[in-house]
Amino acid sequence: MDSTESSTATAAAATREAAPRQIRIFDTTLRDGEQSPGASMNLTEKLEVAHSLADLGVDVIEAGFPIASPGDFDSVKQIAESIRGSTICGLARCAEKDILRAAEALQNAEQGRIHVFLATSAIHREFKLRMTPDEIVDRAVNGVKLAVSKCADVEFSPEDACRTEHDFLCRVVEAAIDAGATTINVPDTVGYVTPEEIFKIFQMLRNRVPNIDKAVLSTHCHDDLGMAVANSLAAVAAGAGQIECTINGIGERAGNAALEEVVMAMKTRSDFYHCATRIDSKRLVPASRLVSKVTGMSVQRNKAIVGRNAFAHESGIHQDGMLKERSTYEIMSPEEVGFAKTDLVLGKHSGRAALADRARTLGFHLAGEELQQVFEQFKVLADKKKEIYDGDIIALVQQQISSG
Ligand code: KIV
Ligand code: ZN
Repeated sequence: MDSTESSTATAAAATREAAPRQIRIFDTTLRDGEQSPGASMNLTEKLEVAHSLADLGVDVIEAGFPIASPGDFDSVKQIAESIRGSTICGLARCAEKDILRAAEALQNAEQGRIHVFLATSAIHREFKLRMTPDEIVDRAVNGVKLAVSKCADVEFSPEDACRTEHDFLCRVVEAAIDAGATTINVPDTVGYVTPEEIFKIFQMLRNRVPNIDKAVLSTHCHDDLGMAVANSLAAVAAGAGQIECTINGIGERAGNAALEEVVMAMKTRSDFYHCATRIDSKRLVPASRLVSKVTGMSVQRNKAIVGRNAFAHESGIHQDGMLKERSTYEIMSPEEVGFAKTDLVLGKHSGRAALADRARTLGFHLAGEELQQVFEQFKVLADKKKEIYDGDIIALVQQQISSG
């Protein structure tokens, strides 16, 4: 290699190093999310959500569990027939009838995926399945092989993986990859692990399973201890290439990792994670509102990224900082996630700067003594009302003009 070739190779290596790692977003709002008590959706609603997920740029849409009911089968089939640009996935236990039903529902998908799962932890083996470890490995391998014979893209999940003995987890994962699984998902089915533990589980799988590089490793975290997002990000830091998540974090019990949170954490802290996704973040708020509307599950005001208060500031000190330079109190812009703008809420904690700014947008230029008088009246009113609206400000200013 001459010196030009060697410097080109060095530059290419540097570019490769600088390029962010691409993380696949696997959305399971229509499957695990719909398993939240009270969140069931009809076919029209599911199609609407599926289109919004595809527009958002979700890589894989888990559309349902086709064996679960004729309605679930129909929705997976119709979503598979109408969505383009995202892989459509159907869930199946490691059982022939489940896998054949999933394959049938997905047959017209542009890109289909069968997701087979089987529990591996000792608790599930002994009390739920009543199967020996050898029987579990055989059933997993047979399930993956049948799925591969129907669909090139097969994901395998050892259910309750994070509570499975490490030796056995490695054995099942290796066997599933040998049988043809192209994605290995490692679910924290009961939301039990901590970020440090899940990091070590992913590291351990990457170090100990000899064929691990033949599959994409995926994380699927539940929120029973409120750590689903932190755990998903720890798994990514340890090498996961796919995150399974739901819009607004809906899902079984306390829910799944929230899509909007994992995506914006990786985007906002790309300096730390060095990862990117295909998600068009401006569509996050509309997707959140749609899912909230069709499931009837409201989003709490202080919910990260998509809650009504996520970009609202009421304290005078914060509002003053925001009016001088928004990065003082905002680490992302509201526009980036689909809100129209920052909300400087006028209430009893607000200061003169925010009041003068709002009055200006309403056409009044307040300064000096006039601003002081309106501000005093505003504080009296704010002690009586939770929020002050534009109509209140107009009334206060007009009162001041007529008295002054
Ligand atoms: O939480 C879980 O283990 C699941 C599997 C079906 C992946 O949802
Ligand atoms: Zn789950």
